[in-house]
Amino acid sequence: MQSTSKILSNDDLLEASKKILKPEIFDFISGGSGSEWSVKNNLDIFHQIQIVPRVLQKSGTIDTSVSLPGKNLSFPVIIAPCAFHKLVCEDGELATAKAAAKCNTILTLSTMSSCSMEDVASVSNNDKWFQLYLFKDQRITEDLVRRAEIAGYEALVVTVDLPAMGMRLRDIRNQFSLPKHIEAVNLKKFHLSDISEKSEGSKVKEHTDQQFDANIGWDTIDWLRSITSLPIFLKGILNVEDAIESLNHDIQGIIISNHGGRQIDGVVSPIEVLPEIAKMVNNKVPLIVDGGIRCGEDIFKAIALGANAVMIGRPVLWALSVGGESELESLLTRLQKELILAMRLAGCNSLQIVRDRGFSLLAGEKITNMKWKEMMMKMENNHVSENIKITPSARFFLKPI
Ligand code: FNR
Repeated sequence: MQSTSKILSNDDLLEASKKILKPEIFDFISGGSGSEWSVKNNLDIFHQIQIVPRVLQKSGTIDTSVSLPGKNLSFPVIIAPCAFHKLVCEDGELATAKAAAKCNTILTLSTMSSCSMEDVASVSNNDKWFQLYLFKDQRITEDLVRRAEIAGYEALVVTVDLPAMGMRLRDIRNQFSLPKHIEAVNLKKFHLSDISEKSEGSKVKEHTDQQFDANIGWDTIDWLRSITSLPIFLKGILNVEDAIESLNHDIQGIIISNHGGRQIDGVVSPIEVLPEIAKMVNNKVPLIVDGGIRCGEDIFKAIALGANAVMIGRPVLWALSVGGESELESLLTRLQKELILAMRLAGCNSLQIVRDRGFSLLAGEKITNMKWKEMMMKMENNHVSENIKITPSARFFLKPI
């Protein structure tokens, strides 16, 4: 384990992780689909949005707490579900759960975790959510739900953006498969845990495409609702129409996500669609956003655009690879400190104030476009303009210069 004293930023963490991990494992974590344009765009988008601070706001006391269904968090960062933590850290998800508990945040355990959901539950009394993939064989899905309930997980995060796995070219080139000692242990009783065999391309993709159901629909969510009373968060919503539809299906939260740019390449960044979804969802359910969030300022921007909380994926794995549980604790503490500083420097004493001030705290071409879109939506909804019906093509031509 190397000295972590110089890790002050995400760039430091990434560099340290790259030095430690085997190239094919670093690629599995850090890569995305296709040309990886979307992975890059998830990061770039934050650089295209600038903060416009307020001053003289008596920012001595900063409150970063947020309440979500059944849980108050001291800061709005949740650990995104990511498969196979043992690839980067011997203790796998057990280390992640312990760090999350120490920092009073939620771990979302992946269906494809390398420690079983029962073992993870046994090392931490803190809140945990279980991420659920929907299998072709519904008996597997139902078994996972029952076990999550018994083990004490507080919510199901149902990932709906993976009817098939994206073309992750790094994994295909590396003919990526799991080392023999790492397994998708939650699937052991169905004899589906071993993903170690070598294949032509990515064994992980082959396994996923064989087992996950591409035929899921809104009726699948209704079925899920009928078999469990756990809160359901839908993860992988990007289209405002889907966000609106989800409200008809008794779900308790939406996670706006493009799977970290690992599914469709060229997909919109979650941050770009967040304001429109926030407007339409209108606080009916909490909104969580992920993809490219790397520092406190990014969290600030996401909250100002309408998120209640954010999730982080890759940085968790980079931290685990560099220094296990303690480095993950450092990462979570650093993000909170950065957020507090960003809020203080921008004159916002609570997350509610950041959300309420919204667009007025932000600038940049993207923001101008988002504001414009919001204005158009208002006109459409309120019928402000009695004579002009704003058609989609008019929207295009009426874009600001
Ligand atoms: C993921 N992600 C993911 N999502 C999910 O719902 N179930 C899963 O098992 C996984 N597995 C997974 C593995 C790895 C290695 C990565 C990098 C990502 C997606 C994840 O939950 C999240 O949406 C993104 O990682 C967020 O983007 P950032 O923070 O990584 O940029």
